Amino acid sequence: MNVTVVDHALALSHLTVVRDKKTAPKEFRHALSQLGTFVAIEATSKMELEDFQVETPMMTTVGKRIAKQIGLVPILRAGIIMVEPVLDLMPSSEVWHLGLYRDEATAEPIPYYNKLPAGRPVDVALVLDPMLATGGSACMAIESMHEWGVEEVLLLSVIAAPEGIARVNAEFPETALYTCAIDDRLDENKFIVPGLGDAGDRVFNTIV
Ligand code: PRP
Repeated sequence: MNVTVVDHALALSHLTVVRDKKTAPKEFRHALSQLGTFVAIEATSKMELEDFQVETPMMTTVGKRIAKQIGLVPILRAGIIMVEPVLDLMPSSEVWHLGLYRDEATAEPIPYYNKLPAGRPVDVALVLDPMLATGGSACMAIESMHEWGVEEVLLLSVIAAPEGIARVNAEFPETALYTCAIDDRLDENKFIVPGLGDAGDRVFNTIV
């Protein structure tokens, strides 16, 4: 499995902001969104282009555009924060939400929302989820993409645990992962450490 860790100096600085437990929701959302931009730029840098004719004020010349239909697939809830920054980079992308939550006892993902249009898949899916912990959610999302008929699936995260990478690699070795950090491990509750806590709760300020 191809794993790319974004090590841009600004990304590492934003990463520290999201790790800091004192960071307030507004700043947390902003930093996580910025990290979405960095990861997406890296993930799309070699995207296939096609030529087309464009008129400058002076003459006709050859322009470039992304050749394939891109789909952004945020995993609810935390993946939502990555949609806008990635959509800013690729405004013609489709957005297809997947609702998954981790069962607290087993840490296995439970699906609760999926409205993918049967028979009309995108060419390339960018699965968006800031956290790759056990890898269960990512694997379920990738499986949904394959069932939908997507040719190529890229996984965009912010923090990944070695256990999650190993699981995705075992089940879907052809999937490329882009992340900003590979953390130490999972703790006894299957949370990434050092990590950043629960991304969904910190994005939506639902820590109870
Ligand atoms: C978190 C996180 C990922 C998933 C990662 O979501 O945002 O989606 O867990 O864990 P995994 O790799 O072990 O599957 P959570 O289930 O807490 O839902 P939420 O985003 O609604 O908070």
